[in-house]
Amino acid sequence: MDDRQRLDRATAHLEPPFAVLDMDALRSNAAAMVRRARGKPIRVASKSIRCRAVLERVLAMDGFSGVMAFTLPEALWLVSIGLRDVLVAYPTADRTALRALGSDEAAAQEITVTVDSPEHLDLIESLRTPHPIRVCLDIDAGFVAFGGRFRAGALRSPVREPEQAAAVAADVAGRPGLRLAGLMAYEAQIAGVGDDVPGPYGRAVRWMQQRSRRELAVRRGRIVRAVRQVADLEFVNGGGTGSIEKTIAERAITEVAAGSGFFHPRLFDFYRGFTGRPAALFALPVVRRPAPGVVTVLGGGYPASGAAGPTRLPQPYLPEGLRYHPDEGAGEVQTPLLGEAAAGLRLGDRVWFRHAKAGELCERFPVLHLVEGDRVVEEVPTYRGEGMTFL
Ligand SMILES: Cc1ncc(COP(=O)(O)O)c(C=O)c1O
Repeated sequence: MDDRQRLDRATAHLEPPFAVLDMDALRSNAAAMVRRARGKPIRVASKSIRCRAVLERVLAMDGFSGVMAFTLPEALWLVSIGLRDVLVAYPTADRTALRALGSDEAAAQEITVTVDSPEHLDLIESLRTPHPIRVCLDIDAGFVAFGGRFRAGALRSPVREPEQAAAVAADVAGRPGLRLAGLMAYEAQIAGVGDDVPGPYGRAVRWMQQRSRRELAVRRGRIVRAVRQVADLEFVNGGGTGSIEKTIAERAITEVAAGSGFFHPRLFDFYRGFTGRPAALFALPVVRRPAPGVVTVLGGGYPASGAAGPTRLPQPYLPEGLRYHPDEGAGEVQTPLLGEAAAGLRLGDRVWFRHAKAGELCERFPVLHLVEGDRVVEEVPTYRGEGMTFL
């Protein structure tokens, strides 16, 4: 039985649209991530999962420890349902949530928020919460070349050099309402950019990534040493799914973050260092056949975040050989698909898609159907299905 037959059989009782998680693929992806991390713990990026049951299951596997959350209200909720060691990896200006954090002793012990400037520290300190708030200092891990005329990587923190990092760390140490718990430097230009791309673009990416790795390994080491002179650090976090084996090779790194690798969405097909199995899929029904060689499915317009373009669209995955109409792309309520495979599809048949990114899929569906082999064994709510839409 091929994957399409297996998934069709497992879900024959469901009416599309719906989303599934192939648990065998998920487990094999998780095991591959752990092998790549060679003994260093992987902090699970919740934004790339957005389903409580799946988060709990992967955290129960060996090799994974702690959560990297995306908002403070999310982190407070996760801790309230029993998860521990939650790092909110993006700064917050949510005074209500910060007050709630600093007023709840248990939450204040389990949650760490991200800061990168005295402005963040002032905001947190101004709330004068009964319990000190744990903070993580975010460092710019971007790559800069040609005298600053070229830059790659996410625009995150203004803190880039060891002296700057040590100054913010010293500032934290001088404020009784705050406690420095860790340091984070996310190299998006390596972890989130596929290097297995043909032609000059691929060569340019590999050139940039090689130089960036070398530069970052030295700078990150210096930053960690400078900050450790001022304060103890419980963790130094870096990387993402695309860079696990590279990031953990640095001595200064104590843990790596990763999330997308579990679902293995389309954008993660383009890496030389690893492969994975598509684990999260969604099915749309064929609802009409406008012309020979064309079928139209219901829905489909679930683009991923980031700079808009074709790479952000879901991939028509099974049956193989379907593509978008160039004028229509993935539509709001219907999506025509062209290609030889269209001839074999009838009304009500499913077309299986992969999202370009991982967790965003769960903002479109209230549940994930968990598939074992050729059977759906369980249905679990996504964040959205629990009414938890944090972003
Ligand atoms: C701070 C941080 N760490 C790690 C990651 C990697 O996540 P993933 O493994 O899902 O690509 C991200 C993703 O954007 C991130 O923002």
